[in-house]
Amino acid sequence: MKIAVLPGDGIGTEIVAEAIKVLEALDLPFEMETALVGGAAYEAHGHPLPPATLKLAQEADAILFGAVGDWKFDKLERALRPEQAILGLRKHLGLFANFRPAICYEQLVGASSLKPELISGLDILIIRELTGDIYFGQPRGRRTSPDGNFPGAEEAFDTMRYTRPEIERIAHVAFQAARKRSRRVTSVDKANVLETFQFWKDVVTEVGKDYPDVALDHMYVDNAAMQLVRAPKKFDVVVTGNMFGDILSDEAAMLTGSIGMLPSASLNAKNQGLYEPSHGSAPDIAGKGLANPLATILSAAMMLRFSLNQPAAADRIESAVKAVLAQGLRTPDIHSEGTTKVGTMQMGDAVVKALG
Ligand code: IPM
Ligand code: MG
Repeated sequence: MKIAVLPGDGIGTEIVAEAIKVLEALDLPFEMETALVGGAAYEAHGHPLPPATLKLAQEADAILFGAVGDWKFDKLERALRPEQAILGLRKHLGLFANFRPAICYEQLVGASSLKPELISGLDILIIRELTGDIYFGQPRGRRTSPDGNFPGAEEAFDTMRYTRPEIERIAHVAFQAARKRSRRVTSVDKANVLETFQFWKDVVTEVGKDYPDVALDHMYVDNAAMQLVRAPKKFDVVVTGNMFGDILSDEAAMLTGSIGMLPSASLNAKNQGLYEPSHGSAPDIAGKGLANPLATILSAAMMLRFSLNQPAAADRIESAVKAVLAQGLRTPDIHSEGTTKVGTMQMGDAVVKALG
């Protein structure tokens, strides 16, 4: 089992170090190799995703990823910005299926900005298509506007597009995931306005006929954004395109009170996966030992379950995380009165100890 470890920038290095500690404590035959990615790779090698890093990722069974990005790189041309590393890995490895669970841990109900009764017991799975849509659609660029409201003016444009196979495969992923849960899928689109998402809706509906045991409904993205804060527990599996999924998954994550708790997985057709916390590189708190490593530790658990076929080890990690929460240990992002504030390393150590 070969794991490529790509810590990245900001808090990435600190949180990944804790996840590795936990993985090592499991005493399983992993081979782990670390490489630079994002801004750190740009500084060392002039590119956010150097060939050696890409090769390591391609040859691994799974990738444990921290986070990339720092304000100091915002002025670089787009192709060299840290974010291109994650987009490049998704594209080169074909990581089209992004799983973003939003789970509310009972001890953290108070951390949500919503009333406890709205989010207590919340367990949503957002499945975001990750290699198509306006994120990657060509053509894109800047030019002189040929038509529209201001012909002759300077303009920028991107292209939203999806092919049938791209929609079919992510729909199958969603229906199959729903079969392991409460057999409900909500497909989020903007079919009332966009051709791309009328097609999305039609194709998801067709695929849904193969899954008569799963209830499918459709929702426009604006309404979905509203329903997520109005009655989030009405959702189970949500499947949507790349851009809507980007936005809705952040919204869903925050419902749980702390984005510092949420893991994610991005899988390709061979079950090779990239595992990363749902949060970013948080350069403002980097290097201070304040970051919450639990999202990364839980991402390592997802990695064991989805790509490395070690479900028992995944269970051990998830139980250990629940145990440290029950002990009252909290990093600053989830700290509240009556609990014990700990730093990044203490939290990682506590998880190792709770592995049992
Ligand atoms: C995410 C991030 C990325 C995205 C950025 C960093 C390119 O926001 O993983 O949600 O937009 O997909
Ligand atoms: Mg995002």
